[in-house]
Amino acid sequence: MQRISLINIAHQQISESLKSGDIAIDATLGNGHDAWYLKHLVGPTGLVFGFDIQLAAITATQSNNADATGLTLIHASHALMAENIPVQHHGNIKAIMFNLGYLPGGDKSIITQTESTLCALNAAIALLGAEGIMTIMAYPGHAGGDLETTQIEHWCEQLDNSKFSYQILYSTVTSATAPRLFILRKTHLITDVTQ
Ligand SMILES: C[S@@+](CC[C@H](N)C(=O)[O-])C[C@H]1O[C@@H](n2cnc3c(N)ncnc32)[C@H](O)[C@@H]1O
Repeated sequence: MQRISLINIAHQQISESLKSGDIAIDATLGNGHDAWYLKHLVGPTGLVFGFDIQLAAITATQSNNADATGLTLIHASHALMAENIPVQHHGNIKAIMFNLGYLPGGDKSIITQTESTLCALNAAIALLGAEGIMTIMAYPGHAGGDLETTQIEHWCEQLDNSKFSYQILYSTVTSATAPRLFILRKTHLITDVTQ
């Protein structure tokens, strides 16, 4: 069976929503691939904010030689997203990416934690603008990742479905340990002006 790249699907879905001049967040910088992809989509007039708790990830992201104008790297937990994103951008973020787990090529003992991930997800949906998109790559195949993934599923289930829609995609078969991609969208609310 051909392995579907969930990250490529996340990028493709985001590319349909995120335009030049928009604002995006990479909640888990890692080696910076997602942050630079977001930067490429928003162009020179857009903004990207990136978070990671490891300096190694900040350095790895900075080592890309492309123009970093509009890219702000924040050495802090994504749980502190709301405190670190300027207030004028709250409710105006068009895309947010989470790619959970550990830094590839780095210290595998430093992984995202269920509690701070859920805290960050709650902050993220408040920052997201109308018709904004959020992608979450989760890996239940490693210790800690299983609980984190289950809790994210529960978190999605309790979202107000008049404001949010979501889908879950699996890399191969729908097994308990298969990596999965959550794609969440904030619905555009239509106000009835006749009332
Ligand atoms: C799978 S990597 C991300 C890959 C990355 N998006 C890329 O394009 O290369 C996961 C990253 O999450 C980071 N991380 C773990 N806990 C975090 C937290 N509470 N806040 C922000 N980043 C965190 C890790 O340090 C690691 O670099």
